[in-house]
Amino acid sequence: MKNQTLLPFLFLTLLFSCQDTSEKTTIIQSPDGVLKLEFILSDTGIPQYTLSRNGSTVIDTSALGFNLRESGVLREGFTIVSTQTGEVRESWTPVWGPQKEIQDHYNELFLELAEGGANPRKLNLRFRLFDDGLGFRYEFPKQKAITEVTIMDEYTQFQLTGDHLAWWIPADYDSYEYLYNHTRLSEVDTAGMNYGIENRPDRFIANPHAVNTPVTMKTDDGLFLSFHEANLTDYAGMTLGIHPGNLMQSELVPWADGAKVHAKAPFTTPWRTILVTDTPGALLTSNLILNLNEPNQIKDVSWIEPMKYTGIWWELHLGITSWSLQQQEGSWGDKGGAGHGATTENAKKYIDFNAENGIRGLLVEGWNQGWEYWGQDTLGYFNFYTPYPDFDIEEVVKYAKSKNVALIGHHETGGQADHYDSQLEQAFKFYHNLGVKAVKTGYAGPVTPTGERHHGQYMVRHQRRVIEMGAKYQIMIDAHEPVKQTGLRRTFPNLMAQEGVRGMEYNAWSDGNPPSHTCIIPFTRMLAGPIDYTPGIFDITLDKYKPDNRVHTTLAKQLALYVTIYSPLQMAADLPENYRGHPAFQFIRDVAADWDDTRILNAGIGQYLTVARKEKGKSRWFIGSITNEEPREFAITLDFLEEGKTYRAGIYKDGETAHWKDNPMAYIVTSMEVKKGDTLNLKLAPGGGQAVSILPVE
Ligand code: NOJ
Ligand code: CA
Repeated sequence: MKNQTLLPFLFLTLLFSCQDTSEKTTIIQSPDGVLKLEFILSDTGIPQYTLSRNGSTVIDTSALGFNLRESGVLREGFTIVSTQTGEVRESWTPVWGPQKEIQDHYNELFLELAEGGANPRKLNLRFRLFDDGLGFRYEFPKQKAITEVTIMDEYTQFQLTGDHLAWWIPADYDSYEYLYNHTRLSEVDTAGMNYGIENRPDRFIANPHAVNTPVTMKTDDGLFLSFHEANLTDYAGMTLGIHPGNLMQSELVPWADGAKVHAKAPFTTPWRTILVTDTPGALLTSNLILNLNEPNQIKDVSWIEPMKYTGIWWELHLGITSWSLQQQEGSWGDKGGAGHGATTENAKKYIDFNAENGIRGLLVEGWNQGWEYWGQDTLGYFNFYTPYPDFDIEEVVKYAKSKNVALIGHHETGGQADHYDSQLEQAFKFYHNLGVKAVKTGYAGPVTPTGERHHGQYMVRHQRRVIEMGAKYQIMIDAHEPVKQTGLRRTFPNLMAQEGVRGMEYNAWSDGNPPSHTCIIPFTRMLAGPIDYTPGIFDITLDKYKPDNRVHTTLAKQLALYVTIYSPLQMAADLPENYRGHPAFQFIRDVAADWDDTRILNAGIGQYLTVARKEKGKSRWFIGSITNEEPREFAITLDFLEEGKTYRAGIYKDGETAHWKDNPMAYIVTSMEVKKGDTLNLKLAPGGGQAVSILPVE
């Protein structure tokens, strides 16, 4: 493997070969021969593909094409100009992630197509078939017939072979912050869902029979499929419309004027991706989406640092303190003034807490001027480089540094991306000059310019500018209300965790997330990339501050989430007062944020998940096991431990009578010696979990 990595391009070139273009069908197989892709040019010149696994069709004949504003529909009348096949067997080392090394093995089919006539339109297709799925994209070559182009529709079909059971959220053009539905595909219909979004300018569902991606399915034959996209760089986000006859077709998120994509040839679309596995666990360890992104572009990565962090954050969501310093009539949600959270003094308290517990990062929200206008651009705007007068940022950074704590900056834009753009460079310079190396961004509110959508091309371009600005000023990005993740973290490893999920915050001010939610998102949203879910709430019932709201898990499950939810930025989200002196906090102190190895020990979508991960560069393992409303017992074999080594397992489990609803805070902490091959018996309460740290005895 290693020597192949040294010569990827040579290797690739050597193994590509041209085919006879009179053939209208070309077949390639995955490296292990299990998946087969067939490209077929129909008799009327429509490009089509099928995908099968071990001889059974997974995707039946599906057509490809576009509607272009300037020159009309582009999907038939093609001939094949050239066909090439090839194979790549490489591996690469990510800057951070759940695994030390990533294998990139695929077989490729590349086709050049052209319409007839004197000035034919040209369109190329590239398919990459991996052992666990397919990626394909359109490539518009430089040509006379298409120069500047407006894509009005992309007609990418996925012809399914049955009415599969799906885990889905609506195709909201602005938000991924939904609970997942679990229905047959034909039942995808948001019309009766009462989401209460009719008057929300920051939510928009155009088609009730469409879903956002990743959308994950189980076929009646027991296969698991997940549809998404990779390398969304200068294009619109893709949703999937569900049509009669088990047909899915791409529906791109539009610009305000209804166009989907503005482009200039040559250009390529994002990859359309289909994972196909025979276990749900294999979905979780797939690297297909990352492999379809470009290699790392950041040379010096010394400043990129996965970490745990605390924040002046939960106290804001619980309403103990406020984001804003001043009161402002008409601002959104937060009137402020009651007791500003981001003060120098409060930040120092958190810094002391972090220093005592070895937690590296501290997020401070509400530090900058403009929160009093949140959600009302008629009143004013956020300022991204001017602190409120009660927050001495220089002093806070200096104090943090003296205690080996790193400040995580915060840019809430309220969705006003154009305004943020106007201060972007100054804002990043400001943090850079202070030595701040991470910023959480946020787009909680309707996008401006008005009419643009969180997942349209406008925001995709905006996101790219932010990532690149981060790379220029050596700042990691943790985006909330982000553009969906598509693996760009390979190219820009400063793009760390992102939200784009119904995270912990919903428990503070809504019906919250039911116990099954965290058993679904690893198999859906998390397939796109790491989630800043913000786990670790110990005061589950919130009695003191929000008696009408609560978290819907046991305490032990909160600990297990540090392992089951992968993120290079992992928050210890609760208030320091709830952690101090708590025996279970030791797990959060110990758990890592970056890994050499990840094993899925068991998995049932929406039901349970048990994951073991090995800390980067250390012999320390951590296990997290979670369940939905059902209690469960698992016997786990520790066959991944090192031979001949003795370890001490710290066990953080649900108490005998624990129950997410009636007795969520009953927990037991014990420990025992373990070695390779031992069996651990896990017992999970309803809505519960178990966390285990396995640390070598020195
Ligand atoms: C929504 C984000 O998800 C949350 O984490 C943040 O605290 C608020 N916006 C304010 O920026
Ligand atoms: Ca959010």
